[in-house]
Amino acid sequence: MAKSLHAVMVPFPVQGGINPLMQLAHLLSERGFFITFVNTEWCHRRMLDAGGHALQQPAEGFRFLTIPDGLPAKHERYTDLITYLRALENLAPVLEQRLLVTLSEGIPPITCIIGESYMSCTYQLALNLRVPRVVFWTMCAALSISQFKAELLLSRGHIPVKLGEAKRAENLITCLPGNLPPLLPTDLISFYRAESASDALVKRFLYESQMQNKGDYVLVNTVEELEGREAVAALSINGCPAMAVGPLFLPNFLAHRDVVRSTSMFAEDESCLEWLDAQQPASVIYVSFGSTAVKSKQQLEEIALGLENSQRPFLWVLRKDIAQGEPGILPQGFLERIRDRGLIVRWAPQVKVLSHPSVRAFLTHSGWNSVMESFSFGIPMLGWPYFMDQFLNCRFVKDMWKIGMDFEGVDVDENKLVTREEVEKGVRRIMESEEARQRVFKLKEAAMKAVNPGGSSFLNLNKFVEEITQIAKSFAR
Ligand code: UDX
Repeated sequence: MAKSLHAVMVPFPVQGGINPLMQLAHLLSERGFFITFVNTEWCHRRMLDAGGHALQQPAEGFRFLTIPDGLPAKHERYTDLITYLRALENLAPVLEQRLLVTLSEGIPPITCIIGESYMSCTYQLALNLRVPRVVFWTMCAALSISQFKAELLLSRGHIPVKLGEAKRAENLITCLPGNLPPLLPTDLISFYRAESASDALVKRFLYESQMQNKGDYVLVNTVEELEGREAVAALSINGCPAMAVGPLFLPNFLAHRDVVRSTSMFAEDESCLEWLDAQQPASVIYVSFGSTAVKSKQQLEEIALGLENSQRPFLWVLRKDIAQGEPGILPQGFLERIRDRGLIVRWAPQVKVLSHPSVRAFLTHSGWNSVMESFSFGIPMLGWPYFMDQFLNCRFVKDMWKIGMDFEGVDVDENKLVTREEVEKGVRRIMESEEARQRVFKLKEAAMKAVNPGGSSFLNLNKFVEEITQIAKSFAR
């Protein structure tokens, strides 16, 4: 089919940012868009090293554009977030240049730039190219609102979040729009935790918030039935449309498209699927802390022993860099002792794992993609947030949606060590919880309904295609 529309998609270059944008790209491609998918050279290299076949032979109507992020190859991008964000902010000129020289016959004119909400460079880029900027939130609507309205929170004294005062009842946040329940100070993006508003990360995220308030259309990777239409609408920029279109991975999964694999920055170990085939139905706890969380050697030892003592079959994703290069992170004799009951892999095909009938529960860092993948397959969660939006996700999973738990009484806000006894107890509780299981099944049904023809996310995405085409025409005049 000849395509007349063209979306330039600019993800935030981390795994949890690239996945949802690639999922959206496939759904837009299906709806008549030609796709230019922008990767930084650093991510592109990692994807190729992980076996990224899609990069070498893109699907029809897709192309990958690769640009330098301006940092040395060895720079610690995730631990030095300020430098990373600053470097990404400056990408507009190089991206514009690359787009202009590569627009050739057969490629339709650009309809819109869809930029992850932290890719502030897409504002200037869209302005220069005279096309609409779509702000795409990869986090849940509630957290996105708190970031979108960060200036308001600063003026009310909720930012910065001083941990010493955060637990006081009078500090509940009730001034946000979108019919949100009162938020705890520790629900906010963890980078607002500081003693002063002049803290460099606080300033950086306030700046990002200003840039997130500029755009022509808003998309959110969430489900209206979960968070409410009002919450999504609260992300509108000056009255522009704001639509929930998630969970974006799900329609791709249902269409048998292995989308995430095409842009994975880690080599997937599929052997765990055979291992799961050999386990009893609903008997396994899946353990993964996403793509960026790190843990100390001591903490990993406690997790290992807690899993062992729980006596439950487990599949544990232990990324190579989880302990930042520390060797020998597992207790002596551990692998030998758990051989018949546990499996450790470096990186799993997570969506396939969570959809496997042997999996009963998920011990997760509560990254938003992981949370949506989990509830879409009816898997209750034991949350262990690490940073960013994960604290709010974890709390909402437990308190609002009641589809999971946390480590009761353990102050993970202050990065306290979770002992082997606490791990064991947590695993047992989530594996035995009937209430969380029943509730998550209901949510699974709602998510399925939302992405299928006639469902809220399905219709919202169609509406987006219709409306952005009209908006783009008005820009071209
Ligand atoms: C980051 C932030 O940590 C998160 O809070 C934010 O919501 C998105 O960006 P990340 O740590 O990568 O994300 O977590 P998450 O959002 O859960 O995304 C991880 C992705 O990697 C998921 O799509 C998951 O399916 C995939 N994954 C993870 C695998 O494919 N295999 C694995 O072994 C682990």
